[in-house]
Amino acid sequence: MERLKTGIAGLDELTEGGFPAGRSVLISGACGTGKTIMSMQYIYKGALEFNEPGVYVTLDERPSLIREDVMRFGWDLKGLEDKNMINIVDGSIAKLGMPSEEEFSLPVTGYDVDKLLLEIMRVIKRIEAKRVVIDSIPALGFNFENTGEVRKAILKLSYMLMRSGVTSVLVSEIQEGVNKFGKYGVEEYVVDGVIVLHYMGVGTQSNRTMHIRKMRATNHSEDLHPLDIGKDGITVRRIEEEYGEV
Ligand SMILES: Nc1ncnc2c1ncn2[C@@H]1O[C@H](COP(=O)(O)OP(=O)(O)OP(=O)(O)O)[C@@H](O)[C@H]1O
Ligand SMILES: [Mg+2]
Repeated sequence: MERLKTGIAGLDELTEGGFPAGRSVLISGACGTGKTIMSMQYIYKGALEFNEPGVYVTLDERPSLIREDVMRFGWDLKGLEDKNMINIVDGSIAKLGMPSEEEFSLPVTGYDVDKLLLEIMRVIKRIEAKRVVIDSIPALGFNFENTGEVRKAILKLSYMLMRSGVTSVLVSEIQEGVNKFGKYGVEEYVVDGVIVLHYMGVGTQSNRTMHIRKMRATNHSEDLHPLDIGKDGITVRRIEEEYGEV
């Protein structure tokens, strides 16, 4: 099976070499667990190290803030955007009915999922993207009255991503400690892999962890792994590294 190296230090060793090509993976976790950083690292490293163009669809945070935040890791998104190795699609404020200053964005009038999907498809074709991130699924469901409609939109989105041949990451939000992997109870089934990020209390050194809940067709790690957010972004570790042999 062909795999895509994620560029997330320490992760590919846990999944026989990366994400299964052409499939999709869900990154789920509570607020502030590192979902945006991890999924942007996948796009950024994909473009920089593996020469694979990527589309980042942001429905939560404004692109300008994301660019600024990840500069802390030395990730120059703008440079790669100028080379069309990365395109950011801004759906962050159209959903509130406000105009975006971004090159790729949703029209303000009549925000709907079909328009968003069309724009995503257009940008994927434009740069011949190999990687796509949707951050986040709950933000996609923002304008829906009922869960049934959101589920339908998620199914449509995942079908469309599969058809376009990209390897995608969907970001979803869950409450810590609740035995659920997506907000709408459907995300975890439409994807081929689920990575869960945790934030454990305060005051301990390794308070961030992650585990791989599933990765179809992959002999993956089933352990809980310490996760660092350092000056180069996210690094996934093994428990032995933190505590010595146990
Ligand atoms: N430069 C940095 N160095 C160390 N830690 C950082 C740095 N930048 C951010 N963080 C940590 O990462 C967290 C934010 O990560 P991120 O935005 O990826 O989380 P998220 O899961 O997407 O959150 P949300 O659910 O709010 O979208 C911050 O709350 C902070 O704890
Ligand atoms: Mg986020």
